[in-house]
Amino acid sequence: MIAAAVPDLPAGESPDLILVPATPAERIASIKLNSVAWKGPLDVETYIEREDHLMQQRLTRDGLTCWILVDRNEPVGGRTILSSCESYRKKALMAHDGHVEDVATHGVGSVYCRPEFRGKGYAKRMFEELRLKLDTWEMEEESRRKSLFTVLFSDIGKKFYAQFGWRPFLSSHMSLPAMESAVDGGDVTRDLFAKDVQQTVCSEAVLAKLRDQMRVASLKSSKAKIAILPDFDHFVWHWAREEFFAEKLLPERSPPVVKGAGNDQARVYCAWNRNFGETPEDNVLYILRWVYDDPTSPAEEQAIIKAMASILRRAQHEAHEWNMSKVEFWNPTPLLQKAMTLVDPKAELVHREKDSIASLRWTGSEDGLGKDVEWWLNEKYAWC
Ligand SMILES: CC(C)(COP(=O)(O)OP(=O)(O)OC[C@H]1O[C@@H](n2cnc3c(N)ncnc32)[C@H](O)[C@@H]1OP(=O)(O)O)[C@@H](O)C(=O)NCCC(=O)NCCS
Repeated sequence: MIAAAVPDLPAGESPDLILVPATPAERIASIKLNSVAWKGPLDVETYIEREDHLMQQRLTRDGLTCWILVDRNEPVGGRTILSSCESYRKKALMAHDGHVEDVATHGVGSVYCRPEFRGKGYAKRMFEELRLKLDTWEMEEESRRKSLFTVLFSDIGKKFYAQFGWRPFLSSHMSLPAMESAVDGGDVTRDLFAKDVQQTVCSEAVLAKLRDQMRVASLKSSKAKIAILPDFDHFVWHWAREEFFAEKLLPERSPPVVKGAGNDQARVYCAWNRNFGETPEDNVLYILRWVYDDPTSPAEEQAIIKAMASILRRAQHEAHEWNMSKVEFWNPTPLLQKAMTLVDPKAELVHREKDSIASLRWTGSEDGLGKDVEWWLNEKYAWC
């Protein structure tokens, strides 16, 4: 059998290969290529529209770069895209020795090589180049002129990205099936709309408390601590995604406005989004972030766990309303694990080995910040 004609392709190690930001037209070309993998239930044109819509959100409109690996000898406008990915600049915090710094980081996503070009070392080469560029990319206005860390969420296990320094971190989750719940008259759980999430999950007070907790913790242990800032822009970005899908796939329904749930007495809150996949099985209501204060007595602990359990039931109900198969959240704390047991004694903590492996590349050791780092708030909101 004669192999299909593929243009002469450079070797992955070729000195002619360079990683460059795509032109707007090349960005669209790379989205078309990766649509095969990620368009889900959308057609290609609508998928491009979604990507453009997401790029216009506050979280990403100034900090999104589409990177392409190309041959430097090819003319701009006619370059073959050998592989591609995106980086998103984000605000972050870094605490060490009793100080908290506002820093910037990049999240990397949409790593792609078209099927007929795979296995030639293009993704590998792209990451060798990316790691050199990303530390200082768009960091001119940062006080350190560099990022101290960057993150990605690997869907291809723990090994590939680790060879370039993106080390796997805790990647666990718990889930509950979607379920219609009976209204319990005594339950004080309330729905959170976008503005409520802004006030309860990502208010200035919540962020100030986070800074303080990181500062105090950094006095107790020498390991640097980082967190991607869980600001309102993150949630708005996730909601832009779900609202886009809802409008395209369910035009007869009004948009999803319930963005989380909370209990004011126990001061427990969460924000969520709906993820629309190819089949109803792939539809998941993700809890993006939980906010609560550490209990100071056993009675307070019980009240918090009960409030969490009621919120989880509310989330199950919301998942049912939107034809999602389940509710899921990442890296549950011990209290959340107890709450899950109240809702479903069979609920299990799953440690992922392949998908959504939270991975972090730390370069703070070059700045005297130690060789290890703790990732705070390793929750779904940080995914990109
Ligand atoms: C993952 C992907 C980008 C790799 O591109 P590529 O150019 O073929 O990769 P390279 O030739 O540079 O490197 C291949 C290496 O990646 C590993 N790899 C590729 N696909 C993999 C997968 N699905 N799971 C685990 N490892 C994988 C190979 O084992 C190989 O490792 P080796 O060097 O030890 O032999 C490409 O397969 C792809 O686009 N897949 C679909 C989209 C996707 O899953 N992207 C990653 C999202 S996190």
